[in-house]
Amino acid sequence: MSADEPSSNTQSPDDVAPISDWNRLLDGKVAVITGGGADGIGGAIARLFAEHGATVEIAEIDLDRAERSRVMIESAGGAVRTHQVDVTRADEVESFAADVLGHHGRVDVVVNNVGDYRVSARFEASSPETWQRMYDINFGHVLLVTRAFVGSMIEARRGSIVNVHSVEAERGYPGDPVYGAMKAAVAHFTTCLAVDVGRHGIRVNGLGPDLTQTAQVDYIARSDGAHHMWPSWAPVGRLGWPEDQARVALFLASDMSAFVTGHNVPVDGGTLAGGGWFFSPDEGRFVNRPKRL
Ligand SMILES: NC(=O)c1ccc[n+]([C@@H]2O[C@H](COP(=O)([O-])OP(=O)(O)OC[C@H]3O[C@@H](n4cnc5c(N)ncnc54)[C@H](O)[C@@H]3O)[C@@H](O)[C@H]2O)c1
Repeated sequence: MSADEPSSNTQSPDDVAPISDWNRLLDGKVAVITGGGADGIGGAIARLFAEHGATVEIAEIDLDRAERSRVMIESAGGAVRTHQVDVTRADEVESFAADVLGHHGRVDVVVNNVGDYRVSARFEASSPETWQRMYDINFGHVLLVTRAFVGSMIEARRGSIVNVHSVEAERGYPGDPVYGAMKAAVAHFTTCLAVDVGRHGIRVNGLGPDLTQTAQVDYIARSDGAHHMWPSWAPVGRLGWPEDQARVALFLASDMSAFVTGHNVPVDGGTLAGGGWFFSPDEGRFVNRPKRL
């Protein structure tokens, strides 16, 4: 069978790979995670994947955050290697991929997690330089890292790619339309690539965080003591934690989602579903109009 032919499919329930240990959903897998340093979503993903039996390969620009992730994973009995990589640089991504593929001979899971809204500029004050930086840090590296590993996945006829973008990929983000557009590009690349490579046994899915406490987005500091306002902010009534994102990434990376590809899951405490609706404690109901502060 040529690499471009669809896999054989006997249309039997036996085609669904059995899950032998529900506590080790990634047993024996090799998982690459970009931006997997401590205090962020990638760090929580790295820890949870290692707990579930994956050997984790972290590509991280910040050595201190990478090191703290390594210590946490190893002290919990997990397997991890860290690499100082700037994923926006093609040469560094290529060397990283050569190292990982040379070491393991394959990679089973890639999580493209790096992203940043902070190069933000009001659109009227933005420039080709700020657009380029927004592209590099939110979308370009997803292409670089995915291209570096997808060929080996095609050869192995298996793999799962998880792209972390943002809820802003799916709703109008007034703060910085260029950021929103870059995140939407990641989400749509996810959907398109899934269709392209599905026949090789590779799945591609995305998740769109919102309201998650990390080093980049310190909601605790931002909410300035107004913790009682969470029920009016997020429909689930609380702040999100990196672990909330990691659990969905585990589902998408593992055989738990063996029949799911090309989708983008908002992991946002319900903000996308809620649209412009906010719970008004004063009125005891949801409102969609300006409120008195
Ligand atoms: N936290 C949220 O509420 C939220 C909301 C929407 C989207 N997101 C997205 O989730 C992802 C993770 O965000 P986070 O909040 O955990 O951010 P974070 O800044 O806390 O973590 C990002 C990690 O990536 C690393 N990194 C940055 N640039 C890098 C580079 N060029 N090469 C390699 N590593 C690099 C950082 O050192 C850090 O460890 C991002 O794509 C972000 O846009 C987060």
